[in-house]
Amino acid sequence: MDSKKAAGEKAAEYVKNGMKIGLGTGSTVYWTIVKLGEMVKEGLRIEAIPTSEQTEKLAIELGIPLFKPYPSMKKLDLTIDGADEVSSDVNLIKGGGGALLREKMLASYSSVFITVVDHSKCVSELGHFPLPVEVAKFGWELTSIQIARLGCAPTLRMANGAPFITDNGNYLLDCPFDTITNPAEMTVKLNRIPGVAENGLFVNMTNILIVGRADGMVRIH
Ligand code: 5RP
Repeated sequence: MDSKKAAGEKAAEYVKNGMKIGLGTGSTVYWTIVKLGEMVKEGLRIEAIPTSEQTEKLAIELGIPLFKPYPSMKKLDLTIDGADEVSSDVNLIKGGGGALLREKMLASYSSVFITVVDHSKCVSELGHFPLPVEVAKFGWELTSIQIARLGCAPTLRMANGAPFITDNGNYLLDCPFDTITNPAEMTVKLNRIPGVAENGLFVNMTNILIVGRADGMVRIH
């Protein structure tokens, strides 16, 4: 079995009747969403908020009931999402799929945040994967210069020959830092820069980590 499928499907076991959940974005949580679609057809009652337009489309196709955040909304019971890197102390780099802003909002509004990855995502320290940072289009070059002062050479993410636009109408800068030894400090430094909407470091947010292996088994932390 595919290791992403193994991790993604395992996470669906944590979803129970009546839950309000956040649905992440990417090829690992895809398997969670497909499984949830099957469970909904078999009678599971849930309501979900997607973290991207891509996930919204998939959830609608699968018949998963959706809702939008509203002012009196209590915390979500659970959010399940993938990651691009997971450190040994279970901090994450996310945003490879460009959905990091909504992903971080829903993760922080959830009582439980489950991260699903295949084993290749596990590293000792974060930073090998270029850190995605979502920035306002206006003055993005200036924002990029300020981010570079923190020790990287940001590149503007492109798609089909044009700048990649996030679901929130922003640009993305991919920031190769090599090693991020203090992700908590880095996240504060990045988010202090005017023009930064959010960065892809998820520090101390994961409650349950599910790592899929090539033989279809999973490790749960
Ligand atoms: C999207 C993300 C994804 O969760 C991350 O890129 C992992 O994706 P995949 O499961 O396809 O490897 O952060 O913004």
